[in-house]
Amino acid sequence: MRSLPLLVTLGTFGLTTAKQLLVASYGNGTSAGAIQTLELLSGSDEGSNPKLKVVHENHDCRLSPTWLDVSLDGDSVTCLDESAPIANITTLSIEPNGSLKKISAISVLGGPVSMTTYNNRSAMALAHYGPLPAISLFTIKADNSFGSLPNLTFQAPEQIHQAVTDPTGQYMVFPSLGADLVHVFCIDPASGLLAKHVPLQCKKGYGPRHAVFWSSGELQKIYLFVVHENSNKIVGYEVGYLEHGGLTFSEVVEVSTYGDHPAPPMTFASELAISPDGKFLIAANRNGSVFEIDHPDPRNSTNLSSDSLVTFRLLPNGNLLFVQLAKSGGIYPRHFSMNKDGSLIAVANQKTKNVNVYSRNLETGAITDDKAIASAEKLGPGDLM
Ligand SMILES: *[C@@H]1O[C@H](CO)[C@@H](O)[C@H](O)[C@H]1NC(C)=O
Ligand SMILES: *[C@@H]1O[C@H](CO)[C@@H](O)[C@H](O)[C@H]1NC(C)=O
Ligand SMILES: *[C@@H]1O[C@H](CO)[C@@H](O)[C@H](O)[C@H]1NC(C)=O
Ligand SMILES: *[C@@H]1O[C@H](CO)[C@@H](O)[C@H](O)[C@H]1NC(C)=O
Ligand SMILES: *[C@@H]1O[C@H](CO)[C@@H](O)[C@H](O)[C@H]1NC(C)=O
Ligand SMILES: *[C@@H]1O[C@H](CO)[C@@H](O)[C@H](O)[C@H]1NC(C)=O
Ligand SMILES: *[C@@H]1O[C@H](CO)[C@@H](O)[C@H](O)[C@H]1NC(C)=O
Ligand SMILES: *[C@@H]1O[C@H](CO)[C@@H](O)[C@H](O)[C@H]1NC(C)=O
Repeated sequence: MRSLPLLVTLGTFGLTTAKQLLVASYGNGTSAGAIQTLELLSGSDEGSNPKLKVVHENHDCRLSPTWLDVSLDGDSVTCLDESAPIANITTLSIEPNGSLKKISAISVLGGPVSMTTYNNRSAMALAHYGPLPAISLFTIKADNSFGSLPNLTFQAPEQIHQAVTDPTGQYMVFPSLGADLVHVFCIDPASGLLAKHVPLQCKKGYGPRHAVFWSSGELQKIYLFVVHENSNKIVGYEVGYLEHGGLTFSEVVEVSTYGDHPAPPMTFASELAISPDGKFLIAANRNGSVFEIDHPDPRNSTNLSSDSLVTFRLLPNGNLLFVQLAKSGGIYPRHFSMNKDGSLIAVANQKTKNVNVYSRNLETGAITDDKAIASAEKLGPGDLM
């Protein structure tokens, strides 16, 4: 039943094995935040769906676990606690039975919401949303403990929302939601320190949240796609590398995160990811319930509302071809994650506190959203990340 951990996961919602998922949730008034290990169990009754069952629950990540990262060596997961003003990041080993065991914890600046490793996994960068917007940097030692490098701090209205390494490993970019720009730094491979370059200016009021690089095999070009939380647009840029350092960005495409459907008011795009085969771009929409789904209790005939996931096909020239707006299976999908071959996608719906797993058509990129192949309800304690 168990298979090897998938170390390709980037989101808070980490798919650790083909049959197991990790999901982070905030605490509530009485209980600390949790990382829950979900296991896919085949249906027991005739004709029933496989069930996602909570098999382990860990509370070592303090009040507000928000982002899980499995990019360190070995079977471990690093959990970011979004609490302010001082937060902890905690590294836990993933035990063979899916339970998590704390290895180490360090205190960091408040409000971390994303991390990535860089310099061939010898360093790590955290993006801090606030109250003090910042980028903090650490060296990663052989035993996976961390050494401090100087913090980079910013002023409001900056809100640093993600840390992203470019495909060459020479640059890092950090979308700043409040400042409508994406910071650009080049990496000093010897020290792990970052040197600032001219940022990418986004359109006014767009609110860049997450970004993903993509390289088109045929034309050998590098593109950056940015999802904007306030305008609900994805903008794609062709990236140029300047000889004496720095990146240039020329816009090639802008699309709505609702594709060809009208975007409802007060909606906020969240996650952005590329399918493992590099052919499709997927984003999530929060607070824009354009769909209805069956009640999880089959005896209850009341339909529930659902937010959405949008899929685009990536074209070699950086253009995006709308494929589908699919159901997320609940309200406020903050993160989603695919398995190794991209045939499954798991969505964590923050407000309805449920996780749905859907199959994906690898040929067309469409999500088979008329029925989840498995789901888990009443997760938490608090909001699901
Ligand atoms: C899971 O494994 C850990 C050690 O690897 C062990 O301490 C724990 O008791 C196990 N839990 C269950 C429920 O089997
Ligand atoms: C937070 O990290 C510090 C180390 O900096 C550690 O002493 C403390 O126990 C951690 N807190 C929790 C709840 O893990
Ligand atoms: C990255 O690190 C691994 C092991 O730590 C090493 O084998 C590999 O050569 C490194 N790659 C580069 C490009 O430095
Ligand atoms: C970065 O900020 C944290 C939290 O305030 C602090 O503990 C750490 O010493 C700072 N790092 C450096 C190198 O100044
Ligand atoms: C979600 O949208 C509704 C309108 O459809 C709005 O009233 C509500 O304030 C929005 N929620 C948030 C958290 O912004
Ligand atoms: C919603 O409810 C109607 C009946 O009122 C039903 O026909 C329809 O199939 C339901 N839609 C979904 C997506 O569950
Ligand atoms: C059916 O579901 C709705 C929405 O979740 C709920 O308000 C209602 O109480 C449920 N009805 C029954 C009979 O459980
Ligand atoms: C918090 O979560 C715990 C565990 O899920 C639950 O038992 C408790 O009732 C919740 N407390 C509140 C105030 O919602």
